[in-house]
Amino acid sequence: MVKINDNYLKLPGSYLFSTIGKKVREFSAQHPDKKIISLGIGDVTLPLVPEVIKALHGAVDEMAVKETFKGYSPDLGYEFLRSTIAEKEYRTRGVNIEIDEIFISDGAKSDSGNIQEIFDTDNKVAVCDPVYPVYVDSNAMAGRAGDYDPGTGRWSKLIYMPCTSENDFAPDLPKEDPDIIYLCFPNNPTGSAITKARLQEWVDYSNRIGAVIIYDAAYEAYISEDDIPHTIYECEGAKTCAIEIRSFSKSAGFTGTRLAFTVVPKELERGGVKLNSLWARRHGTKFNGTPYIIQAGGAAVYSEAGRAQTKEQIAYYMNNAGVIREGLTAAGYSVYGGVNAPYIWMRTPKNMTSWEFFDYLLNNANVVGTPGSGFGPNGEGYFRLTAFGTYENTLEAMERIRKL
Ligand code: MLT
Repeated sequence: MVKINDNYLKLPGSYLFSTIGKKVREFSAQHPDKKIISLGIGDVTLPLVPEVIKALHGAVDEMAVKETFKGYSPDLGYEFLRSTIAEKEYRTRGVNIEIDEIFISDGAKSDSGNIQEIFDTDNKVAVCDPVYPVYVDSNAMAGRAGDYDPGTGRWSKLIYMPCTSENDFAPDLPKEDPDIIYLCFPNNPTGSAITKARLQEWVDYSNRIGAVIIYDAAYEAYISEDDIPHTIYECEGAKTCAIEIRSFSKSAGFTGTRLAFTVVPKELERGGVKLNSLWARRHGTKFNGTPYIIQAGGAAVYSEAGRAQTKEQIAYYMNNAGVIREGLTAAGYSVYGGVNAPYIWMRTPKNMTSWEFFDYLLNNANVVGTPGSGFGPNGEGYFRLTAFGTYENTLEAMERIRKL
């Protein structure tokens, strides 16, 4: 008889945002008169910018004509998009990334969940704590995380790197050497950033011990301070130890349209094998490409007008971040993040657990956030709000929280 992958049975409950969605739906069904404001999942609220819409329409029209119709897209993505990314995301920052080091995909969530497939299941994985749950769950599904202990909220085989106010939410080098290291900066969930000097320490460390860093830079567009690196490849030696994952979701509002890319440098080798070849093989076998229409929309983000329009959106969300930071601070909360990232990380009041505060906020202010403990044991006692709501809802949410 068939045997299932019983690593799935070790996973606790459902995916964090599914649990939150369920709780909110239940509350809503019981209180149909209440207007709920969601600052929970980091989903954008502004429409795609005009320049992207124009490109999408143009691409749809091309699909209607025999001469310009497109079937399967190339394995790694269309060259027009990859060469634009190489130029606009990297060369302008003094980093040389070849176009065959860039893999277009349908999202940073898929890439960050799938990338572990090219590594042996015996590898030791290090994650920040708190952490975006996809890195942990995808390794657990592959059998690399060991067993889950509901008491401690930890997996037996993972190395946890605490990110707390004591270390400015940037992890210290672990005591035990890992093989795979997940870093996400600007960070989800804490909204913190890492300086170039500190990231360089991670690159040097990984090169020294032969580890690979999976660097999730999905929130790069939100960086506002000068000494924060926009790509890990700004650090010397990163091409021999780091894979970088980027996204159009938060930088250009593609959460519903799905577009991202991953960079696997050809210089990155382990055991005499280029990881670029492995990821290319995996991509070619399991992925049939992001639709042409979406890639055409993505390329429009890099036009002069597209850049200006998406910059305005980011400024809008960061203005919300400021409203949240100021609102919570004025209401007496300890607040972090929200300067180089669209997430605000706050301490829960009166020793409430993260989930107690979730229920309290939902019941009394009808505002939805994300419990910090959902991101790992060191997230307990914290709570995350996103800046991706509308300005009006963000103001109203702060007003309701102030009145509590
Ligand atoms: C979040 O709220 O953490 C993000 O929206 C999740 C994601 O990007 O998948």
